[in-house]
Amino acid sequence: MKAIVLKQFGGTEFLIEEKIEKPIIKNNEVLVKVKAISINPVDVKVRSRKAPLAEILAQYDPLILGWDISGVAVETGSEVASLKIGDEVFGMVNLAGHGKAYAEYVAVPAEHLAVKPENITHIEAAASTLAALTAWQAFDSYGKLRSTDKILIHAAAGGVGHFAVQMAKHIGAYVIATSSEANRDFVMGLGADQHIDYKVDHFEDILHDIDFVLEAVGGENFQKSVQV
Ligand SMILES: NC(=O)c1ccc[n+]([C@@H]2O[C@H](COP(=O)([O-])OP(=O)(O)OC[C@H]3O[C@@H](n4cnc5c(N)ncnc54)[C@H](OP(=O)(O)O)[C@@H]3O)[C@@H](O)[C@H]2O)c1
Repeated sequence: MKAIVLKQFGGTEFLIEEKIEKPIIKNNEVLVKVKAISINPVDVKVRSRKAPLAEILAQYDPLILGWDISGVAVETGSEVASLKIGDEVFGMVNLAGHGKAYAEYVAVPAEHLAVKPENITHIEAAASTLAALTAWQAFDSYGKLRSTDKILIHAAAGGVGHFAVQMAKHIGAYVIATSSEANRDFVMGLGADQHIDYKVDHFEDILHDIDFVLEAVGGENFQKSVQV
């Protein structure tokens, strides 16, 4: 099969298409013929050796990046009862481990996959895994967003933020979203109740008594978020 192998950490010039053996699945795994993948900030950080995960992955040869896939199940291991051959599936594969998603076929633990809804494309499904899970974990695992909360979502037009806005609205919270002016309509269209243009306005001067902040910008933005 074809795969995009990372020959050494660094720039995109080290991502090289090669022919390698198709993966052999374990009993708990599904072999997925990949239709679409998505690339997240973690891919870029690992490729350029700027994430701790790169040190773990350095031992693998060939090293194949990528964690988000959508495709079709073409083989299932003997212990897999939840999925069958022919199912259209999507998921986040083996993060934080060796995902090997930049490939024609990927071996995936069955519990890392879900059946793709029929009303979305493989491209949309592949783009709705890591970024969406990050937003969901913020609301369901690390924090508990409640319907009565007022939430400030930074970088609301970004990969994580645009899922977060929709989830927070679904939960019933009052959503204040930051983005540039160019993305105001996009963010409001996702359901935000209030918009702040971070390039013009200082949110810390406008807001107070915020119950929950989803802060995915970093730096001094974090301290200012604690303040509100
Ligand atoms: N994507 C993932 O799956 C994922 C998972 C875990 C963690 N993360 C982390 O979460 C962070 C965001 O990732 P992402 O994928 O959502 O990024 P992204 O898609 O690149 O979006 C970044 C957004 O940040 C906005 N922005 C820049 N400076 C800002 C500021 N000062 N205040 C408010 N918004 C600002 C930009 O808005 P405008 O375009 O409107 O200027 C842009 O839309 C990164 O640190 C990433 O490593 C991402």
